[in-house]
Amino acid sequence: MGVIASAPAKIILFGEHFVVYGEPAIVLAVDKRAYAKAELREDKRLFLRSLNLNVAGFFENGNFKAEEGNPKEAKIKLEPLKCAVEKVLEISGERAGLNIEVNSTVPVAAGLGSSAAVAAAVAAAVGALLNVKMSKEDVFRIAYEAEKVMHGTPSGVDPAISTFGGALFFQIDTGFKPLDVRVDIPLVVGNTGVERSTRSQVAKVRSLKDRYPQVVEPMMRAAREIVLRAIEALKEGDLETVGELMNINHALLYGLGVSDESLEWLINAARKAGALGAKLTGAGGGGCMIALASKDRVENVLEAVQRAGGNAFIAKKTDEGVRIEPT
Ligand code: PMV
Repeated sequence: MGVIASAPAKIILFGEHFVVYGEPAIVLAVDKRAYAKAELREDKRLFLRSLNLNVAGFFENGNFKAEEGNPKEAKIKLEPLKCAVEKVLEISGERAGLNIEVNSTVPVAAGLGSSAAVAAAVAAAVGALLNVKMSKEDVFRIAYEAEKVMHGTPSGVDPAISTFGGALFFQIDTGFKPLDVRVDIPLVVGNTGVERSTRSQVAKVRSLKDRYPQVVEPMMRAAREIVLRAIEALKEGDLETVGELMNINHALLYGLGVSDESLEWLINAARKAGALGAKLTGAGGGGCMIALASKDRVENVLEAVQRAGGNAFIAKKTDEGVRIEPT
């Protein structure tokens, strides 16, 4: 008998990149989930498989043996999950052998936080299987450690939203604060299909900031104001203002050099179809854009983004963070 846990994907509504330098961001959990199944093994080995990434292998005594996929690639992709499992084993004090299978509906390397969602689901599934008492904070911390293996110095925003769900205000200094967002936020997510690396986009912004500090710092302040205004607008359910602020936020991101042709194409298509606002979400350089639309326009915006070549879907905010699934 195994345990299945799941965790949601995320979109960054406002503040990506600026968040790395201490500015606030707003993130939403959306209704696409990553699933992880954990089972006990007879022996003491750890077997990990990702059905989406088509990689699998054993971790044993510091060695990795691939069973599926290119061995080097399989190790890199499975290493963060191994880290999550080991952290839970440390808490449990038990050296159990485990089979872990991951299956995710979240597009990979697209800015939707798939790696954090998978890590949170793995930590929760292993914890529940071994009857380890773990709070959501524990799951968050473990998923964050796994993210560090993957991304170097992430802000922590992805593991937080995948663990806690809902809408979060996040700032490096002060951490996470749940946002009470009652209004429906009809969003279209459009995946350009262009894979990109968060690490290199973050490095690109750092280089720009180092070369033009006087130019980039006012952009940081503008990004902060956008978030503060957006919180008010979200509370009041004023979607027109939220949309307008998304457009301004995107202009700043464009200025930082993290948009690209594929994103611009989808963003323009969404705006032409009547979106209230549209922007890239996450690291940029490919990956996903989001568009906000009034309820009666959301289908039109979806179609327009699809016609423009995006792999698009309608996303709803979910308050369900990491959870154990009924088996
Ligand atoms: O595209 P993602 O999901 O990897 O998000 C990156 C968000 C950044 O602000 C660019 C980096 C970070 O660590 O917050």
